[in-house]
Amino acid sequence: AITTATASANTNIALIKYWGKVDEAQAIPATSSLSLTLGGTRTTTTVSFDGGDGAADSVTINGASPSAVELERVTRFLDLVRARSGVTAPATITSRASVPLAAGLASSAAGFAALAAAASRAAGMDLDGRELSRLARRGSGSATRSVFGGLVLWNAGHDDASSYAEPVACEMDLAMVVVVLSQRYKPISSTLAMRATMSSSPLFPAWVEASGRDLQVALEAVRAGDLARLGEIVEGNALGMHATMIAARPGIIYWLPQTVAALHAIRAMREEGLPVWATIDAGPNVKVLTEGARAEEVAAALRDRLTGTAVSVRRPGGGVRIEEG
Ligand code: DP6
Repeated sequence: AITTATASANTNIALIKYWGKVDEAQAIPATSSLSLTLGGTRTTTTVSFDGGDGAADSVTINGASPSAVELERVTRFLDLVRARSGVTAPATITSRASVPLAAGLASSAAGFAALAAAASRAAGMDLDGRELSRLARRGSGSATRSVFGGLVLWNAGHDDASSYAEPVACEMDLAMVVVVLSQRYKPISSTLAMRATMSSSPLFPAWVEASGRDLQVALEAVRAGDLARLGEIVEGNALGMHATMIAARPGIIYWLPQTVAALHAIRAMREEGLPVWATIDAGPNVKVLTEGARAEEVAAALRDRLTGTAVSVRRPGGGVRIEEG
């Protein structure tokens, strides 16, 4: 039986956001979400069910030991794989991100998608894309979508079997320009922040309702190849997600002054005719949705307006990959 496997996955950025779980144990989200998987952002992970450090799983991420919290999250995830496969041994896990943390794309999405693929393969399981996506979901919600490349829809579903991602046909020439405004770690994890939002924000139910409509409009815009329509809904959905968490008690504010400055710069660029729309995740950095053919021009304009910030172009990338050898 195979006991060692290596797999890699890219990060993804949500165009229509996932924020909140209706079932934390099963990781069933409150809303469906839509994302773009980004090329050149792979995390590569090797899993060997070789006994680990003797008593426990041994984990190395980018050459260092993870925090106790991160280690526990990995072990809990591997316990799911062990329970399903019958493998009982602790594992050695080595993981490396191709994009530095400072690039603003550090994400549990690529990490848990790669871990799900490597661990299930090492345990002798042969999962198809949908099954892999369901497994990755248990590690981190956004990892559900990183199993696939390009544009990806995560159907919220209502239980383990119905909550999975799938690729969405897209003829559009899309790109994301990543604007790194701060390299500080985010002050509160998305897991905790979404829990607080659901339990205390009076705006949350309205956001869930709006999100369903946003998704339909976004999918229609993709089918029609209408970038302006897609961009407007993408920016509105992200701002709405932040509004709902700002309204939690106490409010969760991921934005820095530079985040707001970037949002204004993007609006000014739009008025000048550039196809640019902002989206923001659980941190201060801004990702700009644009047309692939104009991405370098957009990046140059952003560097001009936001002096001193790191700006990089990311184009759509592929899904999870088992690495041979
Ligand atoms: C703002 O997937 O990091 O990036 O499921 O608790 O691990 P957990 O949360 P995570 O949340 C991502 C939130 C987001 C929006 C998105 O990616 O859809």
